[in-house]
Amino acid sequence: MARTVITGGTVVTATETMEADVLIDGEVVAGIAAAGEHGWAEGADRVIDASGKYVIPGAIDVHTHFELPFGGTFVSDSFETGTRAGAHGGTTSIVDFAVQVKGERVMEGFENWMRKAEGNCAIDYGFHMIVGDINDESLKEMDAIVDEGVTSFKLFMAYPGVLYSDDGEIFRAMQQAADSGTTIMMHAENGIAIDVLREQAVARGETDPKYHTVTRPPATESEAVHRAITLAELAGAPLYVVHMSAKEAVVELTEARDRGLNVFGETCPQYLFLSWEDHVSAPGFEGAKYVCSTPIRPRSEGHQEYLWNALARGDLQIVSTDHAGFFYDDDETMGRQKRLGEGNFTLIPNGLPGVEERLNVMYQGGVVEGRLSLNRWVDVCCTTPAKMFGMYPNKGTIAVGSDADIVVYDPSASFVYTPDTIHMNIDYTAYDGMEINGKPDVVLSRGKVVVENDQYVGRKGDGRYLKRGTSDCLI
Ligand code: URP
Ligand code: ZN
Ligand code: ZN
Repeated sequence: MARTVITGGTVVTATETMEADVLIDGEVVAGIAAAGEHGWAEGADRVIDASGKYVIPGAIDVHTHFELPFGGTFVSDSFETGTRAGAHGGTTSIVDFAVQVKGERVMEGFENWMRKAEGNCAIDYGFHMIVGDINDESLKEMDAIVDEGVTSFKLFMAYPGVLYSDDGEIFRAMQQAADSGTTIMMHAENGIAIDVLREQAVARGETDPKYHTVTRPPATESEAVHRAITLAELAGAPLYVVHMSAKEAVVELTEARDRGLNVFGETCPQYLFLSWEDHVSAPGFEGAKYVCSTPIRPRSEGHQEYLWNALARGDLQIVSTDHAGFFYDDDETMGRQKRLGEGNFTLIPNGLPGVEERLNVMYQGGVVEGRLSLNRWVDVCCTTPAKMFGMYPNKGTIAVGSDADIVVYDPSASFVYTPDTIHMNIDYTAYDGMEINGKPDVVLSRGKVVVENDQYVGRKGDGRYLKRGTSDCLI
């Protein structure tokens, strides 16, 4: 088994910052010690010099969508291209969403997604299950699928007629989750009210991309979050609210957490950096690039600042990406994607790319610009995702016995995001023009170097399926 030593770096975990060397034996961390207290370099197969760099746990993105059929097309990244791009950005595990559609068995949906991913991933991967057809059979299958390592289920209060579930269905699924100790993930928006607002906007001729945000006002999110919390409390189920963007919704979550409920929330970089004024309202059709749900909100309403503060003080626990990219311009292979909605914003496929940029933009906006400590950056991008979704301590930290998923992060590097500096299968980056003062220098996945010198040096299929346990975050 190959022995690798990472020397001279500053090891940063969610709770500690220390000058230490790290010994990797095969796929796991075998030792952490101060330089001079060990003789690991002798006999090592490889020594990685991390002087002046941070040594952090590989980042974990618990919300990606690869190869998802959505909005009349497919997400443009496959498991191969998406996980490789993630590795470039320092992400060493993803948790994607397998989908059960109407009329299908839960297990069929899971097997379909396993087939898409198997043998194609650059990094380790797991699945949440979207239960799109809640009935007696699928409720039983929610229990059975726990044996396959699927311990979290996403439900939708949005998208009526597609993935939407009504309150009764949601409540039954929550009761099932309460029994099995699993977690309900909620897309919390009042989809019924939103559909009325969308229809009325289009009838008035309000068809530009900017009306996507206008027809999903904060109350459509906060009402749904409140209702989801109420149902989860009644059922006694843990609740994790995905892609939160409205400050009013975070207020609901915070109030429930203060009452001691097992409710958790994630936000995504697009809500922390982008705004309705500068992005969704861009001239022409450009705003379509930033159409996602929940929507990117007006900066003037103070959501961004509120979300950053909520992350810093722990009212929000995780930053994921909700990666769901669609080409802006027509693509030879993917065809018409965002442009499906030219002339009618309701037909723009919802979603943004981002699996590659998360760790870097969070370093820039969080650590460099003083909104998050180094440890909190690691916590929200690496550690709490692992704890929340049953992967800790194998993933999400650097400790003896943990998987050697490690990023040597160079705070002296700098670069600018442009369509030419990304590796995702897409023609734009949501962070175009953003300067990043930091960069993954070397990325290791279970002890193997997969990215160095800006090159992907791993192999398709290196990623292993993650059978996850239940959450470690519950009180
Ligand atoms: O706009 C989004 N979020 N697209 C992806 C699907 C979802 O709702 O997570
Ligand atoms: Zn969603
Ligand atoms: Zn999503």
